[in-house]
Amino acid sequence: MFFVPSKLLIPAGVLTASVFALRRYKIRKWGRVTNTSSLKGKLFIITGANTGLGFETTKALTARQATTIMACRNLAKADEAIHKIRETTSEGELIPMELDLASFQSIRKFASQVNEKYPDLYCLVNNAGLAAQKPEFTQEGYEIHFGVNHLGQFLLVDLLKDNLKRNNSRVVVVSSRMHEIDASIDLENLGKWVEYDSRLNRLYNNSKLMNFYYARELYKRGFNVHVLCPGLCHTDFFRHYDPKWYHYLIFSPIVWLMLRSAEQGAQNIIYSATDSVTSGEQNPVTGHFVSNVKMRRSKFRFDEHVSERLWEESVSAIAKAESASSS
Ligand SMILES: NC(=O)c1ccc[n+]([C@@H]2O[C@H](COP(=O)([O-])OP(=O)(O)OC[C@H]3O[C@@H](n4cnc5c(N)ncnc54)[C@H](OP(=O)(O)O)[C@@H]3O)[C@@H](O)[C@H]2O)c1
Repeated sequence: MFFVPSKLLIPAGVLTASVFALRRYKIRKWGRVTNTSSLKGKLFIITGANTGLGFETTKALTARQATTIMACRNLAKADEAIHKIRETTSEGELIPMELDLASFQSIRKFASQVNEKYPDLYCLVNNAGLAAQKPEFTQEGYEIHFGVNHLGQFLLVDLLKDNLKRNNSRVVVVSSRMHEIDASIDLENLGKWVEYDSRLNRLYNNSKLMNFYYARELYKRGFNVHVLCPGLCHTDFFRHYDPKWYHYLIFSPIVWLMLRSAEQGAQNIIYSATDSVTSGEQNPVTGHFVSNVKMRRSKFRFDEHVSERLWEESVSAIAKAESASSS
């Protein structure tokens, strides 16, 4: 048996109680969607709906009777997710459809099926995304962060644009606060795997900044668009990270304080997809985004010139890949 001196017991108790109180305070600050109104008859598309934030969003919307197209790259995983949701609710409708955002062919097939069968979209949630540890590329040869996190959703929205515009559908863009940290739009190297001199995954951060720039351009072009950060969440997102044992030791207390569950982080997506969010003054163009289930303003200083250049470069990246595949 260990003998712990009573002099140490009191500070240890105070410290533990303080950490728990701080965690409780943070959970309250993260916010929750309070609206539980029915979404019957409303059609949502959620990319990456099989796990993490996309899964929790799908589950919550289904419980509110929505119809959701689960746009997933692996249909077996989508079926597993449906099975899990059906253990919790019999409401709503779930439609699994294949979509690989790393393939233009898959995006085109998905969009044409949607436009043909589902002409009345209520909301598209661009949620699917990833962070890679080593060089990975899309089928068209673009590095994976640019290719999947930005260009794939750019092409998807373009192909669905008539459907979205006609219905004034919401377009929800899942960005991240990482867009404020060590991120830039490196126009000279767009789509290339670059090893930046940084401790952070700059290619990921850059892609999340692209999400914000993209949401701004969509807003300017008359789309009903909302951009958000879900917060740091416990999901499959970190599946490729391989932390050392001492990382666990050093970072566990901080992570425990900061880390939301997928269900807590998804509140920001659900809010953006269903609630009354933007106003004339608070929209992506004025730098506002949803965080902790309310609007806040980004610290990033956006540049209109970069915004337009990114749009043009995305159009030409798609055209270049299409003409290469047809020649
Ligand atoms: N977790 C966080 O702390 C955090 C913080 C800020 C922002 N975000 C953003 O939140 C979004 C969701 O992330 P998450 O945390 O829920 O991660 P996750 O659990 O890893 O889920 C990501 C989803 O994206 C899908 N996906 C990946 N590549 C795809 C592709 N080529 N085509 C179609 N789907 C693809 C995955 O499918 P598979 O299951 O088949 O791989 C999965 O369904 C991402 O955009 C991420 O950048 C996350």
